[in-house]
Amino acid sequence: MGLTFFVQTYGCQMNKHDSERVVGMLENLGAVSVESMEEADIVVFMTCCVREAADIRLLGQASSIKNMRLRSGSPLDKRMIAIGGCIGQRDGEKLFDELPHLDVVFGTNNLSSLPGLLEDVLENGRHRIETVEESTLFPNDLPTVREHAWAAWLPIAIGCNNFCTYCIVPYVRGREKSRSFDDIVAEARRYVESGVKEITLLGQNVNSYGRDLYGKPRFGDVIEAVAQTGVERLRFATSHPKDLTDEVIAKFATVDCLMPALHLPAQSGSNRILKEMHRVYTIEHYRALIDKLRDARPGISLSTDIIVGFPGETEDDFEQTYKLIEEVGYSQVFTFIYSKREGTPAAKLVDDTPRVVIQERFDRLRTVVERGAYEYNQLSLGKTVPVLFEGSSKKQSGIATGRSPENITVHAPLPEGMRIDDLIGTTRNVTVDRARTWYLSGTIAGA
Ligand code: 5AD
Ligand code: SF4
Repeated sequence: MGLTFFVQTYGCQMNKHDSERVVGMLENLGAVSVESMEEADIVVFMTCCVREAADIRLLGQASSIKNMRLRSGSPLDKRMIAIGGCIGQRDGEKLFDELPHLDVVFGTNNLSSLPGLLEDVLENGRHRIETVEESTLFPNDLPTVREHAWAAWLPIAIGCNNFCTYCIVPYVRGREKSRSFDDIVAEARRYVESGVKEITLLGQNVNSYGRDLYGKPRFGDVIEAVAQTGVERLRFATSHPKDLTDEVIAKFATVDCLMPALHLPAQSGSNRILKEMHRVYTIEHYRALIDKLRDARPGISLSTDIIVGFPGETEDDFEQTYKLIEEVGYSQVFTFIYSKREGTPAAKLVDDTPRVVIQERFDRLRTVVERGAYEYNQLSLGKTVPVLFEGSSKKQSGIATGRSPENITVHAPLPEGMRIDDLIGTTRNVTVDRARTWYLSGTIAGA
């Protein structure tokens, strides 16, 4: 009946992937995707509650939409609003009190219920909610509309069993559940046959894949099997340092399509804080992993997550984190100020470090993060790197942009006579003549 929809996504790659499935399901219903909330008859918020800032942003956006006029020509008399993802799971029914104009709430295990819930609201005009704690089914065969034709996220496990003391994820995404090995390989094969060049295996903790499948097969087997589909580029995220095995590290030496880049969240450089965070590794163990990774694949690009201002963090703890960043030489560090999440064990800890002290530490850390990224990128100057092109630069339309195997953004002028659409999804050699903090630039060979 000519409905339009818009999906607003916050948070991690898992959420972005869930959104691709939401788009697929809504298109299956016959609804049409539009570019903005104003034009949409149905707005779906895919939410994140890992930090407080995301909560606040959702409430702001979801409240202000109430006053936004429906497009002329809409078959509805009121815009339909649905909240899914982690806040949907955490807050459930409460959201209807905070946002009375809300129609549907669905949890992280209830993606497939969304079309039914929306249809029910359309027919019966009452709000609907579904937030089961754990699903026994893996959301395997939901239709998916991918953001890029040449790249695919492939979930191999959902949920998390680690219960880091600051983190809400295990409470909103449930216990770790591995997808069947055969389903993963079949989906990878379908992607490769349809022209996908890059697959990213996804999970809160990919390295513990298979633990709930009686320990077999293991993550290393998944890497091997997906590599054998002939995919050009293979990546995975996220890895927990306590579960990164020698077997998986060795794949960086032996599996050619496994890209030389790894995101390995450290969270802190202080053993005392790591213990308080329940991370179950020491910084010495973490550093040993990095040495092994570099032995397996020299030049591997390493990125990490760091939390600044965990309750009780002293200047000495912080300096150990600073030293870690300074010494490792990461290509990218995602830094977060600790955000108290009700219901997590860390929320009960005394948290009396003044805000200004935490902000000052955070700023100090950003400086060393940027220096590290700049220095890492200098290593590519003068080199020729294969770049998988994604589109044109946001700022300049004549500049094409893509990623190196190390996952660094690379810009290059579009060669004369070439259309950007012919370049997107292809890999070309680029000779790097400029290396900045967050990108490289150069010229496409033969251009
Ligand atoms: N406060 C700040 N950062 C957090 N993260 C997770 N929980 C919190 C929190 N309560 C960060 C961690 C994690 C990343 C995805 O988000 O660094 O690796
Ligand atoms: Fe959260 Fe820790 Fe699980 Fe990551 S490993 S999702 S930080 S509980």
